[in-house]
Amino acid sequence: MSASLAGRHLVVSAGPTFEDIDPVRFIGNRSSGKMGFAIAAVAAARGARVTLVAGPVHQPTPAGVQRVDVRSAAQMHAAVFAALPCDAYIGAAAVADFTPRAFAAGKLKKTPGQDTLVLELVKTRDILAEVAARAQRPRLVVGFAAETDNVAGYARGKLERKGVDLVCANQVGVGATGFESDDNALLVLGHDGFERALGPAAKSALAGLLLDLVAERIGR
Ligand code: C5P
Repeated sequence: MSASLAGRHLVVSAGPTFEDIDPVRFIGNRSSGKMGFAIAAVAAARGARVTLVAGPVHQPTPAGVQRVDVRSAAQMHAAVFAALPCDAYIGAAAVADFTPRAFAAGKLKKTPGQDTLVLELVKTRDILAEVAARAQRPRLVVGFAAETDNVAGYARGKLERKGVDLVCANQVGVGATGFESDDNALLVLGHDGFERALGPAAKSALAGLLLDLVAERIGR
C-alpha cells in the first residue's frame, strides 16, 4: 500500500523556464514538465496539498493541485518562495542557469556584414539551493539532475553543493527516457551513501515510487 501524504504541503516545480532575449526570442530547454506534473498528480491523489509551480508547458492541471504558471527563472523563484512554507520541496523544473543581462525592447536586428552576435548572460538565482538554505527549511528538499554523462558523480556533487536531502538523477539522451518521454529512470541519491534505482517505468509509476521515499521522510 502506498504511504499517505494527508496533511502535508508539497511544493513542486516543473517544466522549463523561458528567458526572454527580445519580444520574439527566448532561451529555453526541452523539459516537457511531465515528471513534475506526475509527481504533483500522485501527491494530490495521496492526500497532500500540492502547489505546482509550472514553467511554460502544455500539460493539463492534475486534479486537486493548485497550479501557478510562470515563464522565467526569476518568476519561478518568486512563485516558489510565495508558496512556502511546505513540508517537502521537489524541484523538478529545468530552471535556466543563465538569463540575458538585458531584455531588448525591440526585436534584435542583424546588420549587413554581421557574422556574430554576442549575448551576455548572467547567472540566475538557484531556487533549490536557496530553499535548502532557508532558516525555515522544508523537512525535505529534493532536487533533480539531468546529465548526459557521469550521472551519479555529478548528482552526488549536487547533493553536497546545494544542501539538499535527495537528488534524482536521470541520464538524458539515452533510449526512451528523459526529457520529452513518458518513461524515465531515476537514480535517487541521499546522504550516508543512500542510493536507489527507480525504473525504467512510466513517469506516473516513478512518481509513486519517489513519493514513497518522500513519505518515509516526512511521515508523522
Ligand atoms: O545545477 P543544475 O541546474 O543541474 O541543478 C538541477 C536542480 O537544481 C533541479 O532540481 C533544478 O530544479 C534546480 N535549479 C534551481 N534553480 C536554478 C537552477 C537549477 O532550482 N537556477
